[in-house]
Amino acid sequence: MMRKLGTIVVLCSMAIAMPVFCSIAEDPKEVEQWFHDLTTKADQKVTKLHFYFQDLRGITTTMVAQSNTSLTSPTFFGLTYMVDDPLTVGPSQASKVVGRAQGLYGSSSKEDMRLFMAIDIVFTDGTYNGSTLTVLGSNPITQTKRELPVIGGTGVFRLARGVALLNTYFFNAALGNATVEYTVIVQHY
Ligand SMILES: *[C@@H]1O[C@H](CO)[C@@H](O)[C@H](O)[C@H]1NC(C)=O
Ligand SMILES: *[C@@H]1O[C@H](CO)[C@@H](O)[C@H](O)[C@H]1NC(C)=O
Ligand SMILES: *[C@@H]1O[C@H](CO)[C@@H](O)[C@H](O)[C@H]1NC(C)=O
Repeated sequence: MMRKLGTIVVLCSMAIAMPVFCSIAEDPKEVEQWFHDLTTKADQKVTKLHFYFQDLRGITTTMVAQSNTSLTSPTFFGLTYMVDDPLTVGPSQASKVVGRAQGLYGSSSKEDMRLFMAIDIVFTDGTYNGSTLTVLGSNPITQTKRELPVIGGTGVFRLARGVALLNTYFFNAALGNATVEYTVIVQHY
């Protein structure tokens, strides 16, 4: 039994080092062993990811809540959307999709245009297919460059911590289209 577990762990750490996807929907025992092995694992990796977030009002986003004053508020305070936005390699909407940003954002300030975001970045391609990163924090959308916390992850990104650097590439208020460049830098094992 110990030998079998050992073999799985070795295969898994090799796969991560390679790196090849390994670890979504693992048996709880394997995950527990992974945590035990951390005590002997010195190195943390730093991974940098780069992609574009494609936000199309009414197409990839849907309004799910508002208060009776949201639409008359200068900052749309309380207006909340559920989103399933494609993440692409390049800035064009036609560019290859490598993941989805799924979650919620809502106007969280009465004073400036700021969205509180609770978004899961779900990778759907290549090395990171099936792994996720969670972005949670305040996004002052009128500033061209923003920094949001990455508070965790799954799969390849288990126990990840880091930041997402956001840079507006394109925004059309009338259409409600936005393309935002994301550079994500995370520490993980
Ligand atoms: C909004 O709803 C609250 C609570 O029901 C109410 O007290 C308030 O008068 C409403 N405001 C407007 C502008 O309708
Ligand atoms: C990603 O993983 C899913 C589930 O395992 C699989 O169905 C899909 O074909 C994979 N996609 C790519 C591009 O590897
Ligand atoms: C903006 O969004 C519309 C759909 O609302 C889409 O048809 C159009 O191609 C988008 N334009 C740009 C420049 O992103």
